[in-house]
Amino acid sequence: MCGIVGIVGTEPVAPLLVDALKRLEYRGYDSAGVATIEDSQLDRRRAEGKLVNLEARLKASPLSGTVGIGHTRWATHGVPNEINAHPHFSDSVAVVHNGIIENFRVLRDELEKDGYSFSSQTDTEVVAHLVSRGLKQGLKPVQAAHEAIKRLEGAFALAILFRDEEDLIVGARNGPPLAIGHGEGKMYLGSDAIALAPFTDRITYLEDGDWCVVHREKAEIFDLEGNPVERVLQRSVGSSLMVDKGNHRHFMIKEIYEQPEVISHTLSHYLDFGDCRTTIGEDLPFNLAEVERISISACGTAYLAGLISKYWFERLAGIPVDIDIASEFRYREMPLKKGGLALFISQSGETADTLASLRYCKENGQHIGAIVNVPESTIARESDAILQTLAGPEIGVASTKAFTCQLSVLVSLAIAVGKARGAIDVQKEKELIRALTEAPRYANKALKLEKQIEKIAADLAKVRHILYLGRDTNYPLALEGALKLKEISYIHAEGYAAGELKHGPIALIDETMPVVVIAPHDRIFEKTVSNMQEVAARGGRIILITDEKGASEVSIDAEHVVVMPDMPEILTPIVYAIPVQLLAYHTALAMGTDVDQPRNLAKSVTVE
Ligand code: G6P
Repeated sequence: MCGIVGIVGTEPVAPLLVDALKRLEYRGYDSAGVATIEDSQLDRRRAEGKLVNLEARLKASPLSGTVGIGHTRWATHGVPNEINAHPHFSDSVAVVHNGIIENFRVLRDELEKDGYSFSSQTDTEVVAHLVSRGLKQGLKPVQAAHEAIKRLEGAFALAILFRDEEDLIVGARNGPPLAIGHGEGKMYLGSDAIALAPFTDRITYLEDGDWCVVHREKAEIFDLEGNPVERVLQRSVGSSLMVDKGNHRHFMIKEIYEQPEVISHTLSHYLDFGDCRTTIGEDLPFNLAEVERISISACGTAYLAGLISKYWFERLAGIPVDIDIASEFRYREMPLKKGGLALFISQSGETADTLASLRYCKENGQHIGAIVNVPESTIARESDAILQTLAGPEIGVASTKAFTCQLSVLVSLAIAVGKARGAIDVQKEKELIRALTEAPRYANKALKLEKQIEKIAADLAKVRHILYLGRDTNYPLALEGALKLKEISYIHAEGYAAGELKHGPIALIDETMPVVVIAPHDRIFEKTVSNMQEVAARGGRIILITDEKGASEVSIDAEHVVVMPDMPEILTPIVYAIPVQLLAYHTALAMGTDVDQPRNLAKSVTVE
């Protein structure tokens, strides 16, 4: 988290740095800052809160240097205020940092003994002082930076600026991503290619342990020992993608509305709709038929997509699936039989815990499959097979279209595994794929329910606690509904397997407690109806999301019934995600919260 940018340019760079930071704000937005050099003066502007505050500060007091670095922060060490905002200075050195310097305590003690005093509570400031101390000891800037980088432990991406070098930025990467952007007589550094998209589409990604020396005319990359290394220069697709809200009020609602299209793109990438067959497996570097077990790790919404897919893999392919939250998996020391398939689901492809889990599985002889939205991401690059979600850039912090695209990939993969293992025949494959071709159409129909959902949301915005219930694949969707709602509306919400209600959460039910029940008319609809009876008997307020058949059969007096079209069961997790997302969105809107950038959250989580 935190976004980094650096420019060695030919015109005043502060406005360009801010422009890039706007595209990086998804990584954190509790404070921001830029520093530039002009006439051998190192100067900075910093501000607490969102980028608009930094922009106002720059407007009142502009910076005109042609080389500079910028940062948008998601606080780890030290509260989000101006003092802790980056860039951090030490004499002639300025540093911006993303990640955590794990040995900062030891380094800070050492530097304090050497007479350095710290003005912030951040771990980053040790880097500025370490480099500065190197300079004082007579090292050249690049050497001083290299020596400092060698002392750092943890996960970091850095950009370092030197007051006396107007044609130099040193960058470093160990964990969080960092890319060099190649311009004409200008050079850039950024946390991702999208940040650099207005400037260049010629990108080189640093690998873990790399550090780089960036001048206007050239950029060199070295390994930790200081040996030059070659990294591929690639054309980034980031630049060709539009990232704006269009006519929508928020990115989140724009992204919700994009779902019919992106689900369709994603499904048609993995399924041949003409012949009704899956195309996954044809070019995989491992044989799906030989896989005996699947393990899935992911975080947040991506984890919940994985949890839904467990039902699909087990049911359609008859293959056992282990699924874990990546932050648990990475330390669980799970024994893995060689030749298993390990799947990692991640919108950003940079989530630290998911990446660590991937590396564990790789060391333990698993085939690695990445379901990511960013094909240049670290998780993608370290995988044997990339199954990309074609959602396009997702900017709203609360994941929506990435989730349904992850489901689209996972259902296609489950069919492919089922076919490879002989668990489903050609007839069943055709039937499933024919059903999936309808997903975009049903998603469009679900969007038509927005007005009704807006009214329900107005009621929900008045309460402090909400329960979500579902069974089977609707259980993870209930978890996702609760997660989405709490993330953006700050109303406490919990998701439960409907059958688990009586083992605890039923104690919470009274006439003030809304219970959102996700229950299409499926094989176990009646079971969920019984759970609703239990809620109704205790005066709970039921908001039922069901289909026409379910609505016609249910005899419970629900406060609201959202009626979805009847659809094949395989589609329900993908399509029912839409009313669940709309409910969270409109509740947040009614609460007046910051929908796209909810407090304390960030879109890309590159720390543990
Ligand atoms: C953050 C985001 C979530 C996302 C999770 C995993 O918490 O706010 O929306 O689901 O990270 O991110 P990933 O990029 O790995 O999907």
